[in-house]
Amino acid sequence: MRKHIVAGNWKMNNGLIQTETLISELKQQEQTSDAEVMIAPSFTNLWHAFESTRQHDIEVVAQNMHFSDKGAYTGEVSAGMLKSLGIKTVILGHSERRAYYNETDESLAKKVDAALQNNMRIIFCFGEELSDRKSGNEETVVENQIKNALFHLEASAFKNIVLAYEPVWAIGTGETASPEQAQDMHAFIRKTLANNYGNDTAESVSILYGGSVKPNNAKEIFSKPDVDGGLIGGASLKAEDFYAIVNAF
Ligand code: PGA
Repeated sequence: MRKHIVAGNWKMNNGLIQTETLISELKQQEQTSDAEVMIAPSFTNLWHAFESTRQHDIEVVAQNMHFSDKGAYTGEVSAGMLKSLGIKTVILGHSERRAYYNETDESLAKKVDAALQNNMRIIFCFGEELSDRKSGNEETVVENQIKNALFHLEASAFKNIVLAYEPVWAIGTGETASPEQAQDMHAFIRKTLANNYGNDTAESVSILYGGSVKPNNAKEIFSKPDVDGGLIGGASLKAEDFYAIVNAF
């Protein structure tokens, strides 16, 4: 059985005090589903978040990392630094990183390699823009994003990879892909994986949907057979909303 995962991407929100408050609220929520729960605070709050969730079923993950081990890269953070805190999972390729910080398939392939060499798990994000969907190119765009950054890997690497399909037009816009649109794309992604790595690998990889998932639409989206969870932005900043989504399975 594939793992169900619900991950909260806090993006550039919450200072230390707000992080403390939100985490203590998260810890008060009751979990009734089998989903793995993750939160991704900013770098500055990772250690605090990690420490304060130690006894709890919440994994603290990073939003990004650099592909080098160390060196003259002002402002960057390496896999080794994350691991030194106990962080085992990193989000890579979020559309905001691609759009505002020039992350490309090539640089992401290097980050993927660096994370795997450090035995980290990756939540790899990708997704088409509105213009791609309007011109009917969404599958080609998604296929290329996955192939260019991941298909140099051996099949065994996929046990440490979670995919997150996030159509750019649905992120932070309140506009969600319909459950059918999400299912169609997730099935296409799984087929692409199967064509390159075989059915066993394709069936074992969790594929998350991200883009305006809220308590009122999560159940329907998560009911689709190829949707294994969600990457949640805005709604992950409110403990009750986030756990309503966690419990939507
Ligand atoms: P959103 O963000 O839920 O606010 O649309 C999703 C994401 O960027 O991961």
